[in-house]
Amino acid sequence: MNAPLTLAACAVDVLTTADPLEKTRRSRAHAKAWFNARAAGQPMPIGKASPPLQPARPAKPDLLAPRDVPRRRPGTPQGRIALLHAVAHIELNAVDLHWDIIARFTDTPMPMGFYDDWVKSADEESKHFGLMSDCLIAEGSFYGALPAHAGMWRAAEDTADDLMGRLSVVPMVLEARGLDVTPGMIEIFRKAGQTDAIAALETIYAEEVGHVAYGSKWFHFLCGRHELDPKETFHALVRKYFHGALKPPFNEEKRAEAGLPPDFYWPLSEDLTGASE
Ligand SMILES: [Fe+2]
Ligand SMILES: [Fe+2]
Repeated sequence: MNAPLTLAACAVDVLTTADPLEKTRRSRAHAKAWFNARAAGQPMPIGKASPPLQPARPAKPDLLAPRDVPRRRPGTPQGRIALLHAVAHIELNAVDLHWDIIARFTDTPMPMGFYDDWVKSADEESKHFGLMSDCLIAEGSFYGALPAHAGMWRAAEDTADDLMGRLSVVPMVLEARGLDVTPGMIEIFRKAGQTDAIAALETIYAEEVGHVAYGSKWFHFLCGRHELDPKETFHALVRKYFHGALKPPFNEEKRAEAGLPPDFYWPLSEDLTGASE
């Protein structure tokens, strides 16, 4: 493979690679190239490229509507495999989400730190996918063995023309949700004594705080640029683009660490109570 010459081309290279191991390998290699060039004082140009509307994905897993994905009880070995599989699927999606934000919005001039943050996040998601994949193999399964949720890319499509909308819905709603639910998952594996899965999920949990924080940082940056009130703007964008409910309980401590104050998310949980979607 010839290494792409711009960061946007690196992003499209990852997005158009279907095989998960190859996708994550390229993601990590491009991240390394980006940071090596930054350290050498000769940053890779951002460039321009056309990201696909949807990223390339492998033939397996089958993607099903959420209501059709079989539910398994987490107290069973099969249930825990299903949980690891679901997390692996989320991580693979996250790899593409972070490269997509890099390639999608190059018409909006942003400081270099914006790209540093999302390249680092994409690299970490690639590692997270590898960790989940290894846990599945250790349990006699693999990514692709079970069906997975379709529709995870919807947030990206809905916000393909709106960088502030993307930041609001992806890192500040979806990834923040990960902070709420991960401690409960870790507890499930602790009860089962699955130390590899506990260690992997602890790594994910620690690094996801950073991704939410990057979302909040760049959202606030753009609010400043456009002289917008951050809280009101966030509420308006989530109401416009997010099609689910923000469900408590919230991990207030980790959300605070990531720069999400309670008055950002609590009002959205209240006005979505009873929403039909
Ligand atoms: Fe992750
Ligand atoms: Fe993440």
